[in-house]
Amino acid sequence: NVAKDPSINNYEYMGKIPLLNSSTESLPPKVCSYIEECASLCCPKDIYICDGSDTEYEHLLNFLEKNGTISPLPKYENCWLARTNPADVARVEKRTFISTECKRDTIPIPCEGVIGELGNWISPRDMEKAILERFPECMKDRTMYVIPFSMGPVGSPFSKIGIEITDSAYVVCCMRIMTRIGKNVLETLGNDDFVKCLHSIGVPKSDSKIEINSSWPCDPERTIILHRPDKNEIVSYGSGYGGNSLLGKKCFALRIGSTIAKDEGWLAEHMLILAITDPKGRKRYITAAFPSACGKTNLAMLKPTLPGYKIECVGDDIAWMRFDQEGRLRAINPENGFFGVAPGTNCITNPNAMKTIFKNTIFTNVAATSDGGVFWEGMEEEISDDVEITDWRGKKWTRGSKTPAAHPNSRFCTPIQECPVIDPGWEDPAGVPIDVILFGGRRPEGIPLIYQARNWQHGVFIGASMRSEATAAAEYTDKVIMHDPFAMRPFFGYNFGHYLNHWLSMTKVKNAKVPAIFHVNWFRKNADGKYLWPGFGENSRVLDWILRRIDGEDIAVDSTVGLLPKSESFNLENLSKDVNMEELFSLPKSFWEKEVRDIREYFDMQVGDDLPAAIREELELLACNVDKL
Ligand code: GTP
Ligand code: MN
Ligand code: MN
Repeated sequence: NVAKDPSINNYEYMGKIPLLNSSTESLPPKVCSYIEECASLCCPKDIYICDGSDTEYEHLLNFLEKNGTISPLPKYENCWLARTNPADVARVEKRTFISTECKRDTIPIPCEGVIGELGNWISPRDMEKAILERFPECMKDRTMYVIPFSMGPVGSPFSKIGIEITDSAYVVCCMRIMTRIGKNVLETLGNDDFVKCLHSIGVPKSDSKIEINSSWPCDPERTIILHRPDKNEIVSYGSGYGGNSLLGKKCFALRIGSTIAKDEGWLAEHMLILAITDPKGRKRYITAAFPSACGKTNLAMLKPTLPGYKIECVGDDIAWMRFDQEGRLRAINPENGFFGVAPGTNCITNPNAMKTIFKNTIFTNVAATSDGGVFWEGMEEEISDDVEITDWRGKKWTRGSKTPAAHPNSRFCTPIQECPVIDPGWEDPAGVPIDVILFGGRRPEGIPLIYQARNWQHGVFIGASMRSEATAAAEYTDKVIMHDPFAMRPFFGYNFGHYLNHWLSMTKVKNAKVPAIFHVNWFRKNADGKYLWPGFGENSRVLDWILRRIDGEDIAVDSTVGLLPKSESFNLENLSKDVNMEELFSLPKSFWEKEVRDIREYFDMQVGDDLPAAIREELELLACNVDKL
């Protein structure tokens, strides 16, 4: 335990609680009073200020190993496997709330009798109550860690600082990978304001029905994730898992981030950022918003099959974007690591991820092999047949078993630096210039491989009407097609109608040259349920068409939904498999009639009066075009 480190001796107290490795004097006063406030609420046994050093990381890993939370993976270099409580495996959207005085600031008011799907609102009073029902003395026998972290390169004008307070050493270790933490962050912060992030894994009530093991304490029955945008405050209780506990990520960079972005005139989005160099040596940057588990990490590190192309990664999950003086949209990746979906990742689908993740990585809920390695669905060809496999719950697993070896939402948490195709400009404090924005989702039917928006307003409509098949990243279990506008449905920090207005207003930013917008769908299936498009590296063919398109080549033709590739304009040379292009790009009338009905119903029921007129106009235009099909 860091707390028992003999090198730490003369400490001072904060109230009655020992402050282990720092003095109140060395901390900015605002940080100090936040720590005091949290400590008096949570009553930890001691307080530890994280410095981000290697020694500290080693101590924490040791502590976690002794506690049974993680075990080493000797097959690789400094890699660890964490197994969570089986009741704590994904984000909990239904238990995630935004708190504002006025409800309509947070969510559009749905039609009467309809359950709102665009976020959950809680009054400041009830938020306070929820905190007081859970946090008093919740850290009683635990160390309270204080993590100063920067989202974005320390000191960049894009960057924002947060302080996360947590009683989980696992969270500290993952935050160290996912963000930039430590002393220089506090120095940069000075006595400025920061985003307050309080997290506890919680203590279940004595009558809890969920079995809790000491290796992964949590309180799934009372888990709650709260945000207070007007105070830049996040409070998370009961879960140690990813998006619920690494508060810099979804809670700060997206939910609080989007509210700050709206006020300051920029965009905080659930988007990857990649650099693509074409055969002529021209380099462009693309961002893409796909819902959780729909291919961002894969596309961000893509190995192109088309000769002459090179893709480099800037980020795989979140983009903060703003227009510069010249009117170019510039983006940074506020994160410092990848928290990527493990299943499906292998040397064919994502070779660059496979080269990234076997060093300095914390895996969570993947399966283990008898030779000290990891395994998940999709890794069958990567391990030899004689190794034995232990599943994510720690039980012996045999090949062909009905239950998966790795949890479908199991993840790797790995430093970006390890990525062999990281873009040299990825930490540029000024951000990288964005030429193209992609939207996309998992659409087994009706949606073509690629089409282009006719203009910015049409593009915003396409983002607003995004839908996708549900995945394991949250608590939904059916494979239903869900609306997921801008891939942000779980992450909006404020009213979606206002968010749309904010996007529409980008054309009015001084000098703004707005990027071209496209919609892609790698997931269309034929009648036998087989994917029509090989995907992965072959997606470089789609990017090739996009780049030639923005270079002004005459390769697009207007259609019902937007601009489609002219026949023969798509590069299919040496494609690894026969593709039925006609089926892949077809626009079935009955499908699109239903799509228009569904989108209309969604807008009417969910967004109501908050839907901007420009978006309604685009919907009517689409409806009219579909009629003519
Ligand atoms: P979050 O990190 O949760 O936001 O998700 P993500 O968008 O980064 O998803 P990720 O890239 O991890 O992809 C998740 C799943 O999509 C994996 O099972 C991939 O194998 C699969 N996938 C990615 N790209 C393709 C593709 O081009 N075709 C097909 N068929 N599957 C793909
Ligand atoms: Mn994500
Ligand atoms: Mn990802």
